[in-house]
Amino acid sequence: MENPQMGFGVSSIICFVLVLSVMVIAARGQDYEVMIMLKKMIINAPTTLQWTDSDVCKWNHVQCDKGKRVTSIQIGNQNLQGSLPKELEKLSELENFECQGNNLTGSFPYLTKSLQNLFIQDNMFSSFPNDFFMDMSNLEAVCLDDNPFPQWQVPHSLEDCVALQNFSAQNVGFVGTIPDFFGSRGPFPGLLNLALSRNYFEGGLPASFSGSSIETLLLNGQNSNSKLNGTLEVLKNMTSLKQIWVHGNSFTGPIPDLSHHDQLYDVSLRDNQLTGVIPPSLVTLPSLKVVNLTNNNLQGSPPVFENGAKVDNNMNTGRNQFCTKIPGQPCSPLVNTLLSVVEPLGYPLRFAESWEGNDPCANTWTGIVCSGGNISVINFQSMDLSGSISPSFATLTSVTKLLIANNHITGTIPTVLTSMPLLQELDVSNNNLYGRVPSFREGVVLKLGGNPDIGKDKPTSGADSDSSIGDNIKNHLQIVIGIVVGAVILLGIGILLFIKYRRKMKPKGKVQNPNAIVHPRHSVDDNAMRISIAGVGGGGAPLSPRSNVYPVEAGSMVISIQVLREVTNNFSEENILGKGGFGTVYKGELEGGTKIAVKRMQSGNMAEKGLSEFMVEIAVLTKVRHKHLVSLLGYCLDGDERLLVYEYMPQGALSRLLFHWKEEGLKPLEWKTRLTIALDVARGVEYLHDLTQQIFIHRDLKPSNILLGDDLRAKVSDFGLVRLAPQGKASFQTGLAGTFGYLAPEYAEGTNMEISFDSTATGRLTTKVDVYSFGVILMEMITGRKALDESRPEENFHLVTWFRRMLLKKDLFPMIIDPTIAVDDETFASISTVAELAGHCTSREPYQRPDMSHAVRVLSPLVEVWEPTEPIDETYGVNFEMTLPQALQRWEDHEGNSTWNSTYSSSSANTNTNGQSQAFPLGHL
Ligand SMILES: *[C@@H]1O[C@H](CO)[C@@H](O)[C@H](O)[C@H]1NC(C)=O
Ligand SMILES: *[C@@H]1O[C@H](CO)[C@@H](O)[C@H](O)[C@H]1NC(C)=O
Ligand SMILES: *[C@@H]1O[C@H](CO)[C@@H](O)[C@H](O)[C@H]1NC(C)=O
Ligand SMILES: *[C@@H]1O[C@H](CO)[C@@H](O)[C@H](O)[C@H]1NC(C)=O
Ligand SMILES: *[C@@H]1O[C@H](CO)[C@@H](O)[C@H](O)[C@H]1NC(C)=O
Ligand SMILES: *[C@@H]1O[C@H](CO)[C@@H](O)[C@H](O)[C@H]1NC(C)=O
Repeated sequence: MENPQMGFGVSSIICFVLVLSVMVIAARGQDYEVMIMLKKMIINAPTTLQWTDSDVCKWNHVQCDKGKRVTSIQIGNQNLQGSLPKELEKLSELENFECQGNNLTGSFPYLTKSLQNLFIQDNMFSSFPNDFFMDMSNLEAVCLDDNPFPQWQVPHSLEDCVALQNFSAQNVGFVGTIPDFFGSRGPFPGLLNLALSRNYFEGGLPASFSGSSIETLLLNGQNSNSKLNGTLEVLKNMTSLKQIWVHGNSFTGPIPDLSHHDQLYDVSLRDNQLTGVIPPSLVTLPSLKVVNLTNNNLQGSPPVFENGAKVDNNMNTGRNQFCTKIPGQPCSPLVNTLLSVVEPLGYPLRFAESWEGNDPCANTWTGIVCSGGNISVINFQSMDLSGSISPSFATLTSVTKLLIANNHITGTIPTVLTSMPLLQELDVSNNNLYGRVPSFREGVVLKLGGNPDIGKDKPTSGADSDSSIGDNIKNHLQIVIGIVVGAVILLGIGILLFIKYRRKMKPKGKVQNPNAIVHPRHSVDDNAMRISIAGVGGGGAPLSPRSNVYPVEAGSMVISIQVLREVTNNFSEENILGKGGFGTVYKGELEGGTKIAVKRMQSGNMAEKGLSEFMVEIAVLTKVRHKHLVSLLGYCLDGDERLLVYEYMPQGALSRLLFHWKEEGLKPLEWKTRLTIALDVARGVEYLHDLTQQIFIHRDLKPSNILLGDDLRAKVSDFGLVRLAPQGKASFQTGLAGTFGYLAPEYAEGTNMEISFDSTATGRLTTKVDVYSFGVILMEMITGRKALDESRPEENFHLVTWFRRMLLKKDLFPMIIDPTIAVDDETFASISTVAELAGHCTSREPYQRPDMSHAVRVLSPLVEVWEPTEPIDETYGVNFEMTLPQALQRWEDHEGNSTWNSTYSSSSANTNTNGQSQAFPLGHL
């Protein structure tokens, strides 16, 4: 016989136990288990760290957020031993992990993607995951120095760290060449400090360093056989540099011109093979404090630094090839002449090594033959020289034979050489000279053979045919390699995604259809993003005709300040589209008439905040591309200047057409236009929330951030406040992010924040902040009233409150509709549906609000009533390898083909686009 009584008892006990365990978990916090594991694996944690409390948030060196999730572990310099558990990855709110200066061993574990700072230097970690940095788009500072990792290459996953400011990996076993992606065209627009000293790097400095914003560059003391080599020329174009340490390498050639480096204070070039004279501009550089030059092959007069800089120029122990030991004492005129002769040849090392002292005829100087104390023969034959023939040769009046055959010398024969009084023979055969041969005195023997272009006005395109063929082959090779690498990476990503997906799905025990591993659109987006950041793929064409993947080179996004000055007429007043707290937006016009919008960030005291918003915006916009999100076309970071370049949206902001149409002499927006705009916005935001690999939260949706094209199709803009979910805590500390009137209550008041730390749905809950703002925008479109309207009586001042009240009163509802909307039955039904959606979106509790995808589902059938032919493609077909103007053209063509039939062509013709209207999203404050 069954005993219902007993059944009830058992189930209530189970219930009780469940409730109890839930309560225990709630009390201890979700990260308890992981922290206990960490405590166990650090051998001396109990004594040193005194981690004893049952609440891990009370542990020393540990910090939590309001939801009791661990955000910081800072256990540096605690004399710890042991290793780290791989479960650390489960601390999904962790922002700072610091364990530097301990004796920790074992492999370093993966950590969560929300990490911002990582300091693990001075430990004994035996390895570090190669794909550790994948998707770590919040990571700002990394220090891995002095760990005994086995030899490895700089991991490519690092390219995902678009917010990276400081990267220090000294003595960590890196091999190979310094990757291009640290350069100005790479994924790190905000990189300030790069330290890669004491590794095993070889090869030259990457050309991509040119134009970078790096301030501290430490590359000293490579341990490989060949060390870093080549010239330092690219440093000339790194004018943000403050500190340069390249000592202990094999660099050759002269010290580059550093005269534009007005913040440079510490330059260590010692222990290389640098040659040539020290540039006078370095000697007089005002900011300079320390200069280290010993143990090179520097030539000319030993410098006296006028700026009081400390110099390590030890004449007795330090090797250099100065002409004298007395600083400031000039070299003899003959030595100066010879130095200027070899300058256009790049001060070859073989001369520097042998040209000692102040008298070329006192010792045997390579290439110089003297007779009776005068130079009689210059013999530079077959020395692998490149560069050009210096006119200074003419100053050597005692020379009878000038022999420079069998090199790679380019340019022309200087006419002034005809003035050399004793010259008997000039042999320049087998070089790459061109141009008219000047007329020498009768009796001078000229040997010109083996210069294919000699006598011609210009070098034919094949003038340096050897090298250009070489370059071509190289280019092709690069393309091929690029494609192969690209394909391998894609395959890799595919596999990783597959693994990740499987891992994610496993606990739920679902059988997956292997064909459904990756949503096709995701794969396009992911790959496009990854490639954009990797900069792989030299070829401009899609990898395969069917793949829909466009190799995007992030490099193509950097635009020089000069170009931006030109197109905005030097940022002239007339070109201002709008101003805001962060700076000014200018209209620019490219050659051929295509227009762009240039956002110039304010410098000065706002600079810090500006920089982070600038970087967030670049990071987000290079990752997300969607038809209804304003596209970033490029950016520029030049000294204090920070500029973002967008596609130009000729009709300006929605706020202009919605609230200022009268002043602007425009027609009010028809309902179906408003509806289409609403759907466009919903789709753009849905993409941010659901359709990218990560979840992005816009945080500042409002009509002034919704921009319209001439066809009145909308795009969401202004991504400066966007946060990845889970949310960065920093943004809360500043408090005010977003705009009053559009802020969700839980966000504005900060009271319900615990809810968003609810175990599983952190991201989804906080996306509801945007849903709320969207609901407010819908209300504005229905009523034609602003979110906050000071002209109304106090009880009607707040649109959301008033609207929701009116919504409940069926008979009053028609009165809130914007009187400019012509309302027939069909329109009224449509408006009622949207009003309901608006009410739903602005529900007080976040969980009561729908997802953005729900809004899309509600709005799209309403739009289709009028517009059944809306093109559905979301990919756009824009190839970001194109130049800026080409890309713009493609966009315009695309827009032109759109079947949307604007009823506003007449009004747009007389639109005043440079009036005071907010034609571009403005400040948040
Ligand atoms: C690491 O351990 C060694 C001895 O095992 C000790 O001498 C050294 O000071 C420790 N280093 C740190 C940073 O604790
Ligand atoms: C990067 O380093 C600089 C100077 O060393 C420091 O001022 C800055 O705060 C660091 N940035 C981060 C994100 O730690
Ligand atoms: C630099 O070193 C590499 C070997 O690591 C060598 O192949 C290359 O020719 C060197 N370049 C120069 C300019 O010396
Ligand atoms: C430096 O910049 C100029 C102008 O952008 C460029 O022509 C030159 O090639 C660059 N030099 C180096 C060494 O990168
Ligand atoms: C450069 O030289 C100064 C003066 O001798 C010295 O104090 C400093 O440590 C040196 N810097 C480097 C990086 O060697
Ligand atoms: C060296 O040249 C100077 C002037 O150019 C001349 O006066 C002198 O005689 C020359 N010496 C010899 C040994 O030719």
